[in-house]
Order: sequence, then C-alpha cells, then structure tokens
Amino acid sequence: FKVGVLGVPLSKGQPRDGTENGPKALRNAGIIKVLEDLGNQVIDHGDLQFETIENDNPKDKIKNPKTVGAANKKISDAVYSIVKSEQLCLTMGGDHSMAMGSIHGHALAEPNIVVVWVDAHADINTPLTSSSGNIHGMPLSFVSKELEAYVPKLKGFEWCFPCISVKDIVYIGLRDVDEGERCIIEHFGIAHYSMQDVDRMGIGEVVDKALKAVDPTGTRPIHLSFDVDALDPAITPSTGTPVAGGLSFREGQYIMEVLANTGRLSVVDIAEINTTVGNSDVTVKTAVEIVKKCFGQKRGGNFLPSYGLP
Ligand code: ARG
Ligand code: MN
Ligand code: MN
Ligand code: MN
Repeated sequence: FKVGVLGVPLSKGQPRDGTENGPKALRNAGIIKVLEDLGNQVIDHGDLQFETIENDNPKDKIKNPKTVGAANKKISDAVYSIVKSEQLCLTMGGDHSMAMGSIHGHALAEPNIVVVWVDAHADINTPLTSSSGNIHGMPLSFVSKELEAYVPKLKGFEWCFPCISVKDIVYIGLRDVDEGERCIIEHFGIAHYSMQDVDRMGIGEVVDKALKAVDPTGTRPIHLSFDVDALDPAITPSTGTPVAGGLSFREGQYIMEVLANTGRLSVVDIAEINTTVGNSDVTVKTAVEIVKKCFGQKRGGNFLPSYGLP
C-alpha cells in the first residue's frame, strides 16, 4: 500500500500532559520502517504543529475549546489531502479529540465512509452532556449530523460541520459509557458491541456483526479510530483513562486483521498513548503490533507469490 503517516501531537482534549508524545514514541519504536518492511510505500508527513491559544478559557465546562478547535482544523486539512493523494492514512495521536478532525477530513475526501470506533469509551458526549468538559470524550458528537442540534456553536469549531451519520458508526470494546452517551446510543440506534458482547459471542462474531451493521454490502471505505484504552490495561497501561477488563492482545490483533482484509481500510487513528503514565514500552509495543495488522501483517503468515516454489 501507499501509506501517508501523520503525527498528531495533541493533548489539550484531556487534562494530562503526555499524549502529545505519542507520535514521537511510535517513531522511536521504528513505525516507519515497520510499515516499509511490510512492503508498504510510506510517505511521512511529519508531525503537525499545534499552537496553544492564549486565554483559552473554558466555555461553560468545555476545556481548551479554541486550542482543540484550531488543532482539529489542521488535522482535518492534513487528512483530507493525504486521503486525496495516497491510498491509506495513519494518524498517530494524540488524545482522541483528534478523531474529530481526522473523520472530518476523511469524510470530505471520501463522502461514503463508515467509522469503526474501537474504544472502552463512546466519546459521543455533547458539550452539554459531558461531565468532564474534556473534548476527547466528545469528538463524535461534533461530526454527526443527527447531533448537530445538540452541539452548541463554539468559537474555534466554525470549520467543523457534521459530515457523517450516527448510522455510520459502530463501536467495539465499550465498557465505560456515560449516561448521556447511553441515551444517545439508544435514541439513535447506534450500532455497538460492548465487552459483554465480546464475552458472549466471541470476537469473531462481534466483528462480523459490527461490519454488517454499518455496511451490509461491504463496499464502503472504513475509518478505524483506535483508542489504545480499548485494550486491557495490562497490555496498554500508558493511557489517561484506563478501564479494566479490556480486549486481549489477540482480540485486538484479530479486529485489525479482519479490517485490513476487507481491503477498504482507508484511515487509521491510533489515539491516547500517554508516555507519562505507566509502562510506555509495553504500550508502544502493543500499539505497533496493532498498526502492523492494519497495514498487511497476517499472523498466519504473509504469502509472497514472488517467492515461488519449484
Ligand atoms: N466519558 C468520559 C468523558 O467524556 C471519558 C472519555 C474518555 N475518552 C477517551 N478518549 N479516552 O470525559
Ligand atoms: Mn477511551
Ligand atoms: Mn444493546
Ligand atoms: Mn477514546
């Protein structure tokens, strides 16, 4: 594949420092070479540079609105042009508010996307339902058409218009969903597979059902937004909002292999690595294995026709 890689060192969508180091940590782990060794042609677009806007006071409860809004505008523009010119795009976060810009840019370039949201959290609070005021818990409400009426117009987000339907979203891995979010999921009938569903059906059936739920014909480009806290904190401890009882390493790998196998994976966000929390080595190693499966590595072995057999 031709893969455009973009670093998104964003941290103001949540209160802790450290998520801005995600891109650097993945680069230090050799992510570019790893992708190349899988046979991909990699175009490294470097890391975006975000400014911290002064006097960016909370708007009602919402924290750092102008800074996060301006950063996501940059993300949207960058993802848009990568999707326009390259086959695949990997965005390395950064806190999960980055998905607002990433989905927005992707949807502008490819109007028919579906969003596979792999996360312990639903990240669909509106500025009104959020109790934390952290924008990383809200990105999906900003980009969803059905929620437009519930998202107040905030300074810094003028560029962000709703570009997907809530019907285009499917969740896998949920286990910490706020009351307001649960209400939105129920009311709009958003497809969701929680850890309970994974326990009951197994990951194989969950992924089959999830893809059928948003795209029964199997034809639409896929936006994968992967929050490392979807995985169990035993294997991704370095994240700001860990929740026990997450996806296993194998379940994580399996989801990625199936998505890659569709041939329709188009943008992959890796979000919420926070190098200042816990053991970042193990977290980054896990994330690299996840990324590998998205971009071609198969646990059953990769078949190289050029290898030939006598
Ligand atoms: N639901 C909580 C909130 O809105 C937690 C969100 C966690 N999000 C994340 N991307 N880790 O504040
Ligand atoms: Mn999360
Ligand atoms: Mn349900
Ligand atoms: Mn998230």
